[in-house]
Amino acid sequence: MFITFEGGEGSGKTTCIQKIVASLEQQHYSVVLTREPGGTPISEEIRNVILDKKNTDMDPRTEALLYAASRRQHVVEKILPALKAGKIVISDRFLDSSLAYQGGARGLGIDTIWQVNQYATEGLEPDVTFFFDIDPKEGLARIARNAGREVNRLDVEALTFHQKVRAAFQELAKRNPKRIVIIDASKSPDEVYQTVLQEIEKRLPSR
Ligand code: TYD
Repeated sequence: MFITFEGGEGSGKTTCIQKIVASLEQQHYSVVLTREPGGTPISEEIRNVILDKKNTDMDPRTEALLYAASRRQHVVEKILPALKAGKIVISDRFLDSSLAYQGGARGLGIDTIWQVNQYATEGLEPDVTFFFDIDPKEGLARIARNAGREVNRLDVEALTFHQKVRAAFQELAKRNPKRIVIIDASKSPDEVYQTVLQEIEKRLPSR
């Protein structure tokens, strides 16, 4: 089973993922936790190039291609082998992030970015995707309060950029109602966690 978590900055998805992994492992499922951009040494190197604060003049298409390149390595080296071995793979971001950030917010077009990514993923899709939906004002305020987290190049984009990201994720959820579950990320961390866990347990194959 391939599960992805998506959403804007400060939506709390990463904290929730950690609790989900702990719960599944406690139930003796074999879980591989990973993230994008990153997840393998080559993909992490590409991540450093993309998120480096010095690279402010990166062309949007370059950015989109680097995310896709990082994803390709991640799919081949980590995700597919783990799925083949019968593991649950949980990824903090995947293809929908490219569709929302590069396709929607950067204006390259959701369909164009989807096409570009087919070369990288060869059609691999998550079984379920949790979209952590939150007003970007609240999300960015959470990050500001959470001084321990590193602020990257994309965090410092204007609020309107993050509003476009949210609108694109909402559009993707509308287009993929079976795969994408919208989570109200303004709720308490525990409520959010319980909802996500229930949705996953509903979908787990019986053992
Ligand atoms: P990260 O520090 O992992 O942020 P977060 O905790 O919000 O997941 O940074 C990843 C950034 O990269 C984030 O701003 C979203 C962006 N991104 C894209 O623009 N396109 C993509 O395809 C992916 C995977 C991430």
